[in-house]
Amino acid sequence: MIAAIPVITVDGPSGVGKGTTASLLSNHLGWHLLDSGAIYRSLALKVLKTDSEISDVIKLVELAERLDLNFKSVIGEPTLVYLDGECVNQELRTESCGSIASIIASIPEVRAALLQRQIQFRQAPGLVADGRDMGTVVFTDAQIKFYLTASPQERAKRRHKQLKNKGIDANIRALEKEIGARDARDSNRKVSPLVPADDAIIIDTSDLSIDEVFRFCIDIIGKAGIKANLNR
Ligand code: DC
Repeated sequence: MIAAIPVITVDGPSGVGKGTTASLLSNHLGWHLLDSGAIYRSLALKVLKTDSEISDVIKLVELAERLDLNFKSVIGEPTLVYLDGECVNQELRTESCGSIASIIASIPEVRAALLQRQIQFRQAPGLVADGRDMGTVVFTDAQIKFYLTASPQERAKRRHKQLKNKGIDANIRALEKEIGARDARDSNRKVSPLVPADDAIIIDTSDLSIDEVFRFCIDIIGKAGIKANLNR
């Protein structure tokens, strides 16, 4: 039997550092990276650009199936996301895109339409996948499943700092409220809710630096006998 291509999943709510952790792990291992949130965000952007109704499930599924989406990644550099041939990294990160992504991600038909796209990222020598349901639905047989958490206050603080660095003045209380609303929607939806897999390793990152989280993960990966791909 051919051994399955290895996968490490990094799930959790927004603002826990899972994107950065997943990216550092994929660089370290020389593996591919899947930012599944970027797929939901890209569909949200397409919805915005086409003025589509988020209640029109048939239209949403059609957009999801036809989504002209490409990822360009170079190890050590941020992944570039192209929607309809245009780089959309900046647009994907807006609060409105995140909120619409969270709303449309609660529709089972939309999730089903985007599933195969995510599975296709599983390519040799391995994949690090970040999202909400990577370990519970998309890659249930992953070798290691990490689930990152942090208090809503800490996550709002981090988001505030990120926005400030971009010159955007945001209200920290409003951010906390928005994070709470998104958590509730992602956790309480009927399909693929945000929950740790039974076999996930849970890491509370509230009082940890990114480097500490990374070292903790690397230690576990090393103990599991997973080695970095040196042929790159
Ligand atoms: O990780 P993110 O903030 O970029 O994700 C944006 C939204 O997409 C998130 O609020 C919920 C949805 N999402 C999802 O439902 N399942 C995933 N695997 C990834 C993201």
